[in-house]
Formats: sequence, C-alpha cells, structure tokens
Amino acid sequence: MCGIVGYIGDRDITSILLVGLQRLSYRGYDSSGIGILSDGELSTWKKSGKLVELETMIDGLSIQGNIGIGHTRWATHGIPNDINSHPHVNQSKKLAIVHNGIIENFSSIKSRLSKQGFLFRSQTDTEVIAHLIEYYMANASLETAVENALLEIQGSFALAVIAESEPDKIIAARRSSPLIIGVGDNENFISSDINPILSHTKKVVYMNDNELAVITRDHIQLKLISGPEIPLKTHQINWNQEASEKGGYDHFMLKEIHSQPHVVRTILSKYIKGKNQIQFKDLHRDGIDLKLINRFIIQACGTSWHSGLIGKYLIEQYAHVLTEVDISSEFRYRQMISQGNDVVMGLSQSGETADTLACIREAKSKFYKVLSFVNVKGSSIDRESDGVIYSHAGQEVGVASTKNYIAQIVTIYLFAIHLAHIKGKLSKDELVNKIDQLNKIPEYMDSILSKADELEAMAEKYYLSREFLFIGRGLNYPTALEGALKLKEISYIHATGYAAGELKHGPIALIDAKLPIVCISPQTSTYEKMLSNIQEVKARKGKTIIIATEGDKEIKNYANDLFYIPKAPEELTPLLACIPLQLLSYYIAVKLDCDVDQPRNLAKSVTVE
Ligand code: G6P
Repeated sequence: MCGIVGYIGDRDITSILLVGLQRLSYRGYDSSGIGILSDGELSTWKKSGKLVELETMIDGLSIQGNIGIGHTRWATHGIPNDINSHPHVNQSKKLAIVHNGIIENFSSIKSRLSKQGFLFRSQTDTEVIAHLIEYYMANASLETAVENALLEIQGSFALAVIAESEPDKIIAARRSSPLIIGVGDNENFISSDINPILSHTKKVVYMNDNELAVITRDHIQLKLISGPEIPLKTHQINWNQEASEKGGYDHFMLKEIHSQPHVVRTILSKYIKGKNQIQFKDLHRDGIDLKLINRFIIQACGTSWHSGLIGKYLIEQYAHVLTEVDISSEFRYRQMISQGNDVVMGLSQSGETADTLACIREAKSKFYKVLSFVNVKGSSIDRESDGVIYSHAGQEVGVASTKNYIAQIVTIYLFAIHLAHIKGKLSKDELVNKIDQLNKIPEYMDSILSKADELEAMAEKYYLSREFLFIGRGLNYPTALEGALKLKEISYIHATGYAAGELKHGPIALIDAKLPIVCISPQTSTYEKMLSNIQEVKARKGKTIIIATEGDKEIKNYANDLFYIPKAPEELTPLLACIPLQLLSYYIAVKLDCDVDQPRNLAKSVTVE
C-alpha cells in the first residue's frame, strides 16, 4: 500500500512524478504529494483526496527541478488530511521523505525526539524518520544519517529521501515493502512497481530487503543498510506498458469483466502446447518434484483466497492430493506442521500482499518448497518462490479483482489436471477431454456477457437493499463468498456468503420478505441439495435471485429473478457463475453512484499487515 516514485534527470519532473503516481494510484488514493529540489531548494506540494486534487493544486505553477519524489497514500497512521500526506519534511523543511510501510516503534522514537525539542506536525509514523535523519545529520552525511535512522526503526518500509544539503541524489531503501530502480541514460528512476518506469526504460534493479541505494543521475550504488556494497544486478524487462485505458468502457472494472474470455484464451495459448500438452515453464525453477508432493498448503488473501478454496476442490478432486487453504494473516501466526513433502502455495494477483509474502518467507525458512500463482511478474512473491505459474491476466486496474480471479481458477485447474496426469490419476484421453472442455469456456463467457443488460435490470430492482445473502454449495460455495465480497467492496452494501447447507445453523434467522438471497445453483452434483436450501429460503419469503443452468425449467418456480449460464462440467461452473455476480455488483454500485474502480478505504496491493 502507498506508492512511491522518484526521478533524477532532465525530463519534465512534475509530469514524470504525476504520471507515475497515476499508475501507482491502485496502491492507495487517500492523498498524494510531491517534493522537488530546484537549484538546491526543496519545495513540497501535497493534498488529501484523489490525485486530481494535487493536480489542481499545482495546475498553472511552473515547477522546475531535476530531482523529485512522489507519494500516493493509503492511510495507516493519521487520518487522510493534507498534513498527514507525504512527503514529510524535517524541522527546517530542507529534507523530504516518502514512505510505504509501518514504523512499529514510532511512538517511542517520537517521544524521545519531542523531549529533545523536535516539533511534530503530523500524526504519521513516517514523520519520525524525517526528524531522526535530521538528528543523525548533525554529525554525518545524508547517507549515513539515513542508515543510522533505519538501524533504529522497526517495521516495514520502502522509502526515498532527498535533501538540500546533498542536492544531487536520492537515497532509497527497503525492508518488506517493494521498491524498484529504473536505470536510464543520464537519468534514473525509483518506483514501488514497474508501471511508472516501463515507458522510460526497460532496465531495472529489484531492491531486496535491507538494501539501500544512493542514486545520482549517472550512478547507482547499492549496499546493505550499514553494510558492504552489493554488485548491481540489472534485469531487462521484455514486456510493454499495458494500455491503462478504459477502452470505451465506463470503468476499468467493466472493461476487465468483459476481457475475461480473452484472458482464458491467453492462458490456454500460454500453457497448452502441441497436442494438448500442458507445460509450465517456471514451475520447476528450484527443485519442486510434483510426483513427490503429499500435501499443498494454499495461502492467500481476499479474492485470491476464494480462488484458493476452489483450488482445493480441484486438486483434491483430480490429483487426490490433500490440500489445505488458509487466510495468510491467520496462517502466519500458527504453528506450521510439516508432514514431509508439503508444498506451500502463495496465490496473489499483485505478488506483494504483505501477509502472503510473510507466509511464503516463513515457509521457506522452514524448508518448505513454495509454488506461487502470481499475476505481476518480477513481484516479490514471484522472485522468492521456488516455482511460479503466472496468471497472464494482464494488468488489473480495478481495485476489486475480477479477471485475475478467473485467471487464477483457470491456471489452478490446468495445474490440477496436469498433476493428476503425472500422478497417474488422469489418463491422457481424460486430460485431453478436460482441456477440450476448458477451450469452450471463453465462448460460454461471451454468451453470458452478451446478456449483461439482464443484470443491469436486476440491479435496478435491488440496489436499494441494504443487505444481501449469497449461498452456494461445493465448488460454488467459494463463488458465493466471492459474490458477497464483490458487492461489499464496490457498493458498500453488507453482504455475506454462506455454504447453503449452513443456512439452517444461523443465517436463516435473517431471512424475511425484504432480504435478497443470491443462490448459485447450476446443475452440479449438489443441485438437489441446493434446491432444498432454496425452498427453505422461499418458505420464509426470501427474495431469490438464482443463477442456474440454461434449460433448467424447474428452478423457475423458486426464483424471483433468474439468470441462466451455459451448461458446463461441474468443475468449470465457478468460471461462469461468478460473471453474473460481478456484473450485478457492478451495476448496483453504479446506480448507487459509488467509485467503482477505487472504492473507499481499499487498495489493490496491500503491503502492510
Ligand atoms: C486487496 C485487494 C483485493 C485482493 C487482495 C489480495 O484486498 O483489494 O482485490 O484480492 O488484496 O491481493 P493479491 O494481490 O494478493 O491477490
């Protein structure tokens, strides 16, 4: 969370920083700010609210300078107001810092510095770093002062510092929050991720934990914090800046929902080779032997946790390998019990989610192999895993995940049948048959998307309800959880997902004639059970919105509203059933005038605990 950019060179500094912040705004959008050194003099501009507030603030100003830093914030310490926005400056306003992360011992440092006469202006943890650096600068260079400050602070950080006293450099450092250096020709960049850098240079250095960089326009020195210099390892990025445009859609989320058939086709073209052979190029990077695996432990957060739940069904169903799924923030504080030949799986769109990253690090420290399903190449989880399967969803801009959810399910499906084949649980013919079935999914998705107007009409009927229940069984229990999450995230309506069989153990008490209940009920092995659950709902006058299989006439009797999805094999139904739920949430949020792409309080990449 929070995005950082920095630039040193001859280009238009404000435009580099503002475009960079625009590309990082998925990481937080509570406030933004920039700090620029011009002829050795520091100026800062910062504003609460979306980036447009900062843009309006500086509109018409002729800002010059060759070195600057910028920040887009997701508030942790201190409300999102102007004062708490970054950059933060020291007492004399001659040094500025931007920071992503949390300083856990900020309060004790703050009270010590306050006693020494330092005056604090904000409620943030970040401001203590600015004052601490100033404290150490009394007897040291900027670099040494930053190092001394970083030795004292506990917690996570990616940060960048500029100062009037040494106006030719940016000092950057990281511990547990991502930071990348873009290497240019007589210019250099820093950023929380690759997107602000890609249109300027394809040569990057991924900083690792506890590293510090001293960056001038023609030199980058990388070292351990208060340690020796480290040889610079540059990586050449061979992908292009993806068009971050809405392409005629009103919102990125809608564009991303409609791109899902294309995403599935892309994944199939990446992983299916020759005559229906599945090949995962980066799976065996470091000694993962699929035949030996006895247990998977899936780690994920948010929507990725929901695809992990579907992954459990798929891996157990096809490959007969015990698979546990856990929310990363819970798993990381429990005892890990190894049964030998366990593999920990990290599922993450961003590849930077702090809790998921912490889990895979913990697992590696205990000698587990780690296999991850990641969308963003070069992310921390990608680089630190023993094997990786990329989601190939393309850049996802909408904060509420849609196309990456689909991509994760498809890649896990391919992995599950590949593993089953290797373990002798699925014959070659069965494997080919499963791939053929998957090949039909994009077409089915297209047909669902062509009926989006039905869901828009449904949204019109229900958008004023303040509460929803989502129910499903088997593979579509996670679909119910995901449907409820989507609605909550973007429309701020309270929604709960339940396993339909659990209704009678509590949630049935909520049902009355006003409560809409979304029932995910395609024709699967639990269809009859689901029908009984729907009747329990009807008997209590609940309003049912049913997702059913085309041709299912009986279910009409129980539906207040009905949406048909094409008939598909049971294991593939989650790929279809989630689309009407995404669209229903989308249209409800639009009718409520919510900010669909950047919902309040959320961020796309959660790099704090
Ligand atoms: C945030 C996002 C969610 C996402 C979750 C996990 O909460 O808003 O959409 O599902 O993080 O992110 P990851 O990048 O690890 O999949």
